[in-house]
Amino acid sequence: MDSDGATLKQQAAAAALEHVVDGMVLGLGSGSTAEAFVTALAARHAAGHVRDICGVPTSERTAALARRLGVPLTTLEQRPRLDLAIDGADEVDPALQLIKGRGGALLREKVVAASAERFVVIVDDTKLVDRLGQRMPLPVELVAFATPLVARRLQHLGGTPTLRRTSAGDPFITDEGHVILDTQFAPIDDPEALAAHIAAIPGVAAHGLFVALASAVIIAEPTGVRWRRR
Ligand code: 5RP
Repeated sequence: MDSDGATLKQQAAAAALEHVVDGMVLGLGSGSTAEAFVTALAARHAAGHVRDICGVPTSERTAALARRLGVPLTTLEQRPRLDLAIDGADEVDPALQLIKGRGGALLREKVVAASAERFVVIVDDTKLVDRLGQRMPLPVELVAFATPLVARRLQHLGGTPTLRRTSAGDPFITDEGHVILDTQFAPIDDPEALAAHIAAIPGVAAHGLFVALASAVIIAEPTGVRWRRR
C-alpha cells in the first residue's frame, strides 16, 4: 500500500472514531483499515479521551494488536450485543452491499457485524464498485472435508473456485480452522440470491457477501471523507 492509501485509511478510521463514546462495546474488524481504527482507538483510550470501552476482535491478528496497544477485549459470550462494529471491506456497491474476506476473517467478521446495533464500514475510494465481483473473487469459507462438493456447486452457480494457499503453498487455514475457496464470478447481478444459494451448500461456513448488514460506509478519498448511509 502506498502512503497515500495508508493516509486515506487513517482518515476513514478517524471519522469512525468520532462515533465512539464512553461505555461502548465495539466490534473490531480485520485488515489494514480496521487496524488503523484499532490503533487510533487505542491512542484515544490511552489518553483518557474515551473510557470504559471494550472490543470483540474479529481475528487473532486484531486481538493481538488490541492487546499490544492496551484496548480492553471481551467476547460475544460475555457481551452478546455490540453497540458499534467497525470494519473494512474489499468491495462496496451503491446499495452498501459488500465483499469481504480478503484477509480470511470473513466468518468472525460477519458474526460480529450481525451482533452489532450499527455496522460501519471504513474504506478508501478504491473499494467502490458498480457491481460486486469486479475487483476480486468472492471468498467462501468451508470445512475442508466438503471441498469437492462445495467447489462443484460453486461451479454450477457460475463461479471459478480456487483454493486459497499461503505463500509456502499450503492451504490457508482460517482462525476457525476452515479453508477458503476464492471464487471468481462475472460481476454479480443479484448478490442476495447468490448469497442464499452459497449459504445453502452443505459444508459452507460463511461467504464474503455482506448483504443488508452495513448501516453506513465511510469513504475516504483525496478530496475528503464522506458518508453513505442506508
Ligand atoms: C478481512 C477483510 C478486510 O476488511 C478487507 O480485506 C479489507 O482489508 P484492507 O482494509 O486491508 O483493505 O474483509 O477478512
